[in-house]
Amino acid sequence: MTFLFNSDAARGAVFAKAFAAELPELPFSMDAAGVDPDAVRYLITWTIPDNLARYRNLEIVFSIGAGVDQFTMTALPDHVKVVRMVEDGIVRMMQEYATLAVLSLHRQMPAYRAQQAACIWRALPQPQAAQRRVGVLGLGVLGRAVLERLKPFGFPLAGWSRSQRLIDGVTCHHGADGLDTMLAGTDILIVLLPLTPDTRGFLDADLLAKLPRGAALVHTGRGPQLNHAALLDALDNAQLSAAVVDVTDPEPLPADHPFWTHPNILLTPHIASVTQPESAAQAVIDNLRRHFAGLDPVGLVDRRRGY
Ligand code: NDP
Ligand code: OXD
Repeated sequence: MTFLFNSDAARGAVFAKAFAAELPELPFSMDAAGVDPDAVRYLITWTIPDNLARYRNLEIVFSIGAGVDQFTMTALPDHVKVVRMVEDGIVRMMQEYATLAVLSLHRQMPAYRAQQAACIWRALPQPQAAQRRVGVLGLGVLGRAVLERLKPFGFPLAGWSRSQRLIDGVTCHHGADGLDTMLAGTDILIVLLPLTPDTRGFLDADLLAKLPRGAALVHTGRGPQLNHAALLDALDNAQLSAAVVDVTDPEPLPADHPFWTHPNILLTPHIASVTQPESAAQAVIDNLRRHFAGLDPVGLVDRRRGY
C-alpha cells in the first residue's frame, strides 16, 4: 500500500517528512516511474496523469489544490474517491486576498491610482462601510471564511449558493431568484464558485447588468467563469467601476490582452490563495486517518455535481 505524491519536489519534501513522522506505516513515494503501480492506493496530484489506468488498486485521488475542475473525472473509475484540498493555509490566504480586494475597492484605490498617475491630489467622496454591500457567490469553505473575515468591517454581507445556507450575520440567498435579489443589492461582488458545467461562462453581460450601476467585481473563482468581453464592456460603459481579477482564461493572458493595461482592472496571476505544504500535508494525513476509520474524507467531491 503506497501513497504517491505527484507534484513539485519542494512540497513533496514537506509531505515526506510529515508522513514519516505521522504515518510511518504507509509507504510514501515521489517516484511515479519507480513505484510498483499495484501498490498505489492513494495519489495526490494537480492533474490526472495520462497513465492513471496502471494504478489498478487506486482508492483516492487527492487534489493538491482546492479546485478539482482540472481533473478529467471520466478518466477515473467510479469507485475512486476524489478529494479536494481543504486546509487552513488556503483558507487564510483567500481571506487575506478578498479582504485586500474589498478594502481596495471600497477605499477607491483604482481611482486614486489614476489620480496619482495624473498628479491629482483630491479627496473623493467616501461612502462608509455600512453603505457598501458585499456579496459572495459560493458559500463553501472559502466563501464562508471570507465572509467571516469581512464581518468586523461593518459591510452589509450577503451570499449565494446552490442549496440554502444559514450564516449568522449574512443574508443568504440560493437558486435563480435568490441570485437576482442578491445581485441587485451588491456593490462589491466576490466570486468563489467552483468551475462546473453550470458555472462556466456564468459571469456574463446579463449577470453584470443585474448589479447596481458602479458596482465592482472580485473574481477569485476560475478563469472560464468570466466572459472577458462582458467585463470590458461593463467597465467601459460604467456599469462596473472596477474589477480585481485573479483568474483568467487562458492563464497567463496573451501580452496584448486588454486586461493588462485596463486602468480599472487590478490583475494578479492566480495567487489569491496557494496550498501551504505543512498544513496541506496535515490535512491529507488527517483525511487518510478518517478513511482508515471508515469515514468520508473532508472535501470529498460529489463527482456528479463536479465539486
Ligand atoms: P466548496 O466546494 O466548499 O464551495 C462551493 C460553493 O459554491 C458552495 O456553496 C456551492 O453551493 C456553491 N455552488 C457550486 N455550484 C453552484 C451553482 N451552480 N450555483 C450556486 N452555487 C453553487 O469550494 P471552496 O469554497 O473550497 O472553493 C471554491 C472555489 O474557489 C474553488 O472551486 C476554486 O475554483 C476557487 N479557488 C481559487 C483560488 C485562487 O487562488 N484564485 C484558490 C482556491 C480556490 P452549495 O453550498 O449549495 O453546495
Ligand atoms: C486551487 C487554486 O484550486 O490554487 O487551490 O486555485
